[in-house]
Amino acid sequence: MLTQIISLASQKGGTGKSTSTLNLGYSLASLGNHVLLIDGDPQGGLSLGTNIGEKEKPGLADILTGKAKPEECIVNSRNLTLSALGSGHFSTDSLIKSETQAGKHILMDAVISVSQGFNYVLIDCPAGMGSFVRAFLSVSNSVIIPLNMRNTAVRSLPVFLQFIEDVRHKYNPSLTVEGILVTMLDFASRSEIEIFKTAKDTLPSTTIFKTVINHDYIFEDLSLNGAAAAMSRKATKAARGYFELALELHERKINRVKGDEDEEFQGLF
Ligand SMILES: Nc1ncnc2c1ncn2[C@@H]1O[C@H](COP(=O)(O)OP(=O)(O)OP(=O)(O)O)[C@@H](O)[C@H]1O
Ligand SMILES: [Mg+2]
Repeated sequence: MLTQIISLASQKGGTGKSTSTLNLGYSLASLGNHVLLIDGDPQGGLSLGTNIGEKEKPGLADILTGKAKPEECIVNSRNLTLSALGSGHFSTDSLIKSETQAGKHILMDAVISVSQGFNYVLIDCPAGMGSFVRAFLSVSNSVIIPLNMRNTAVRSLPVFLQFIEDVRHKYNPSLTVEGILVTMLDFASRSEIEIFKTAKDTLPSTTIFKTVINHDYIFEDLSLNGAAAAMSRKATKAARGYFELALELHERKINRVKGDEDEEFQGLF
C-alpha cells in the first residue's frame, strides 16, 4: 500500500492545523481510505479536540521516554477506517528528550513504524519551527500549511517556506509542499478578502488549494464536543469544505501517479 504521510504545519499558532487534521482525516476515511491521525503537538491539540485524550492510552510522550511502543498507542475509531495516536502526557523529561538527536530519531521511527497499512497519515504539528516539526517533516512526503488570511499569518509564510526548504535540503530531499490551505476565511471581512486576493496573485497557482475553508463558529462548538463537522447534523455546510479538500488531495495523488502517460483502461471487472 502506498502510504502518504502529510504534516499539517504552520509557523503561526491558531491557523486551523488541528481542526484541519481532524476534519480532513475524517473526510478521507469516509471516502474509504485507511487514515491515521497523529497528535504531534505536546499541548495535545488533536487529543483535546477529540475524545482521544480521554482514552487511557499512552501516546507520543510515552514513546519518547521509552514507556510505550508506538503500536500500543493506536486508538481505533468506532465505525470508520480512522485511527489515532494521541500526544500522551508530556512531562519535562519527554520534552527534554524531544530536543535531543535521539529524541528526534525516536519520533521519526515511531511515525514510520505506525504508518504501515494506512493510505494517509496526517500529523498535527505544533506551531512554529521547533524540534517536533523538524522531526515530523523529516519523515513526511508532503506538508499542508493551513493559513488564515490575517496579516501576521501571511507575513510568517516566507520564513516558514524557507524552513521547509532547509529540512528538505538537510534531511528529506523528497519533501514537497502539498499546498497552502486557506482557513477561516470570512467573506464579510474586506481586509481578509484583500489579503486572499494578493496571496492568490503572488503565489504560484498550484501552491494554494482550490478548496477554501470558510469561517464558521460551529468549529468552536465542535472542538468542545470533540467531534468532526461531518458527524453533526448542524455542521454539514462546515464539513463540505473538508470533503472538497479530500477530493482535491485524491485528484493530486492520481495525477502524480499517472503523470503524463496516456491512459489505458482494462475495464472495471
Ligand atoms: N473554519 C473555522 N472557522 C472558525 N473557527 C475555526 C475554524 N477552524 C478552526 N477554528 C477555531 O479556531 C481555533 C484555532 O483552531 P486550531 O486549534 O485548529 O488551530 P491550530 O493551528 O491547531 O492552533 P495551535 O497552533 O494552537 O495548535 C479553534 O478554537 C478552532 O475551533
Ligand atoms: Mg493545534
